[in-house]
Amino acid sequence: MYRYIRSFLFLLNPELAHHLSMKGLTLACFFGLIREKNIPSEPITIMGLNFPNRVGLAAGLDKNAEYITPLAKLGFGFIEVGTVTPRSQPGNSKPRSFRLIKDEGIINRFGFNNVGIDQFINNIKKAKFNGVLGINIGKNFDTPIDKAVEDYLTCFRKAYRYAGYIAINVSSPNTKNLRNLQSDKYLEILLKALKSEQKILHKKFKKLVPFVVKISPDNSSKQLDSIAKLLLKYKVDGVIATNTTIDRKGILSSKYAMEEGGLSGAPLNKKSTNVIKHLNKCLNRKIPIIGVGGIITADDGIEKINNGASLIQIYTGLIFRGHGLVNELRKATR
Ligand SMILES: Cc1cc2nc3c(=O)[nH]c(=O)nc-3n(C[C@H](O)[C@H](O)[C@H](O)COP(=O)(O)O)c2cc1C
Repeated sequence: MYRYIRSFLFLLNPELAHHLSMKGLTLACFFGLIREKNIPSEPITIMGLNFPNRVGLAAGLDKNAEYITPLAKLGFGFIEVGTVTPRSQPGNSKPRSFRLIKDEGIINRFGFNNVGIDQFINNIKKAKFNGVLGINIGKNFDTPIDKAVEDYLTCFRKAYRYAGYIAINVSSPNTKNLRNLQSDKYLEILLKALKSEQKILHKKFKKLVPFVVKISPDNSSKQLDSIAKLLLKYKVDGVIATNTTIDRKGILSSKYAMEEGGLSGAPLNKKSTNVIKHLNKCLNRKIPIIGVGGIITADDGIEKINNGASLIQIYTGLIFRGHGLVNELRKATR
């Protein structure tokens, strides 16, 4: 069935196709056309949270937390919404998303287009979801990198009560200098501030909300070692590996290969698995890894788990394979 829907959607530009499919999904759920499949799955406790299954939706598909209720019907154990920033912003100019059909990849340079944290939280208040809700936060494009901590703290405070976990996005290639926040100098300041804020909010709300750091696949082994050290030093609750890549190896002859932005999907798979493998060695199972990047088949999901991921997320695979992939992955990772 999805094959037919996809043939139609792929005739449209990716942003319009995304908009229409989200509206279509909402309608289909409203009329009871999509019901969650009854797949027995083993719940798993990670970071003190009870995940109904290991398969999650990666950040960026529901940037404004508008579609949590219909997305929940697709069977995800967890859904990560955002990236959200303190103030609303339009993102980069269009076109800003490109399908690489042969490669089963996407290049995007959205640049955190979103409604801002206040409207975002209002949307969450209306949503229904029994799984774990992740809230992915970032900084506004015009906030200087030296002041970035303030943006993360603003979102962290506002998101805290409503989040299962909070993801700190320091790895999108589409916001100038954002990925510099992974360097020792900035990351240490950021983690220190967030850990101390987490303690304050834990007391205030009598609820410990874990936070995880989402990293880039383009870090060198040395950079990964430094990041892992800081994650351990500040007892960060988890790490998401990985975001999209600026590397174009393997797709150089594709039509959109030279478009600026982050590449996701099949061409990212190996690279992100290598990061998971490396982190797994450094972290020695002390900090859980959420594996994401190029999961297009059930085997891809198993591979991430075998290399050290406790949970997995998908985005591009969902666009290319449809929501059947969620069920396949749930079965494969039970
Ligand atoms: C169109 C698009 C938009 C994205 N937006 C975000 C975002 O706002 N925040 C974020 O942390 N990751 C974002 N991502 C990255 C995904 O969450 C994921 O890390 C990456 O795409 C690799 O997974 P995949 O190969 O399954 O797509 C986006 C990815 C795509 C394709």
